[in-house]
Amino acid sequence: MLDAKVAIVTGSSRGIGRAIAERLGANGASVIVNYRSDADAAAHVVATIDQSGGRAVAVLADVTDRDELRELFDAAERHYGGLDIVVGNVGIARFGRLVEFTDEDYELIFTTNTRATFRTLREAANRVRDNGRIVVISSVAAAMHGPDSAVYGASKAAGDALVRALAKELGPRGITANSVLPGAVRTDALFEHRPAGVIEGIAARTPLGRIGEPDDIAEIVAFLCSDAARWVSGQALHAGGGMF
Ligand SMILES: NC(=O)c1ccc[n+]([C@@H]2O[C@H](COP(=O)([O-])OP(=O)(O)OC[C@H]3O[C@@H](n4cnc5c(N)ncnc54)[C@H](OP(=O)(O)O)[C@@H]3O)[C@@H](O)[C@H]2O)c1
Repeated sequence: MLDAKVAIVTGSSRGIGRAIAERLGANGASVIVNYRSDADAAAHVVATIDQSGGRAVAVLADVTDRDELRELFDAAERHYGGLDIVVGNVGIARFGRLVEFTDEDYELIFTTNTRATFRTLREAANRVRDNGRIVVISSVAAAMHGPDSAVYGASKAAGDALVRALAKELGPRGITANSVLPGAVRTDALFEHRPAGVIEGIAARTPLGRIGEPDDIAEIVAFLCSDAARWVSGQALHAGGGMF
């Protein structure tokens, strides 16, 4: 389905990014598996993609560093001769009331979620071939405006705005750009930042009765990266089990 397509998935050694990389690889794409620290985890993702019949290489790059981000995109061209799909997945969460947020936490969140997403989109716009696909992993926090997610939600909403405008700039080349807004998803990051009781409460309030799994999000991204989604662009797709 994605045969002859080349994809970069940022932050794909664990969590949602890992599921996306494995899904795109299983669908035939050649995948750049990006990680920041855990080489063994990234190698495991590469091995899983190889076993599913796909092709992948792991590339170390901190996407908050402009030069390393550029080298990540260079790697796609060096290994596979071009680039068709970019999934900007890296993001970090910090929750808390706005009045309690420090300048340092604000900088950390916006450096990763907004500035790195801006630069990822800029590289993607310059490098993705005609009829390519760009997807950013946002969060329902960008649209729900919860009392403990002002800064995180704002950083993700800024990314969504960048994607929507970029979709209009790249449409004439047949390139689509969309964002996906997951609700709570079972990853290391979720359990690091949300106490178990809070996660159970989210599951109870979710119409579909559970939190998300990484594969729930990966399937949506795979659709957006496919030819079947050629008429979907500039959208912010909510993926929270009906909660929002
Ligand atoms: N989990 C949720 O409930 C949830 C809900 C809504 C939205 N999201 C969004 O979904 C995305 C993925 O979240 P997740 O929960 O899957 O995260 P995660 O479990 O913490 O995984 C993070 C991944 O990103 C990599 N990474 C982190 N910082 C990086 C950087 N600066 N440069 C390159 N790679 C980096 C990590 O690699 P290393 O391990 O090598 O550092 C790891 O592979 C984020 O944008 C998040 O905001 C998550």
